[in-house]
Amino acid sequence: MSTPILQAFNISHGFDYQLFSNIDFELNLHESKAILGRSGLGKSTLLHILSTFIKPNSGDVKLFNKNIYSLDENEIEKIRRYDLGIIFQAHYLFKGMTALENLEIATILAETDIDNSLIEQLEISNNMHQKIGDLSGGQQQRVSIARVLSKKPKIIFADEPTGNLDRETAELVIRVLLDYIHNNNASMVLVTHDESMAKFCNKRYLLRNQKLEEFR
Ligand SMILES: Nc1ncnc2c1ncn2[C@@H]1O[C@H](COP(=O)(O)OP(=O)(O)OP(=O)(O)O)[C@@H](O)[C@H]1O
Ligand SMILES: [Mg+2]
Repeated sequence: MSTPILQAFNISHGFDYQLFSNIDFELNLHESKAILGRSGLGKSTLLHILSTFIKPNSGDVKLFNKNIYSLDENEIEKIRRYDLGIIFQAHYLFKGMTALENLEIATILAETDIDNSLIEQLEISNNMHQKIGDLSGGQQQRVSIARVLSKKPKIIFADEPTGNLDRETAELVIRVLLDYIHNNNASMVLVTHDESMAKFCNKRYLLRNQKLEEFR
């Protein structure tokens, strides 16, 4: 048995009120797991905890077998830059720049190269020289996915990556993400409210009553 690349133990967190308590979660190499649940129950918060951006009120997170709360800020920054690919619910592209320039920034920072086949697969080849502000919402979403995958991350954290997309384009995006994890020794945690997208993942979990329950 290989060691999971992500392990979370006993995670509890809340802001004004408790969102979840004593959640355990694991992710293995090549595995894709979907997290579903009603709006406002804490899916994005949990994803931010698993991806180092929020420290939970209690519990531990291990990435690549290292407890992230034992690392200094530099070490965490390195993991974020080279190993994690986070597709945020709101995509933070640089609006005044072209799609291509946005990808270039990511590849320079992560010391990788732009992958043209990825751009073709996402059907955004014709948009590369357009300014982000001139693209449709769904095109921007696909550029932000291309930008994250261009970094060649080992774990993708995707928060509603198909939220703005029609079904056909949404399926295309999920397939691109799953192809990526199979071809690049990577894994994915997908947050979605869409069960038909979650079905493409190896396992599905529902966040409900402050717990994460696996369901089929
Ligand atoms: N930084 C924060 N400070 C205070 N409250 C927060 C913060 N982040 C999230 N919350 C609150 O925590 C709750 C859960 O938010 P979260 O974004 O995790 O939900 P979600 O399940 O992702 O919802 P959605 O499906 O609508 O995206 C919400 O009530 C939200 O207002
Ligand atoms: Mg959310």
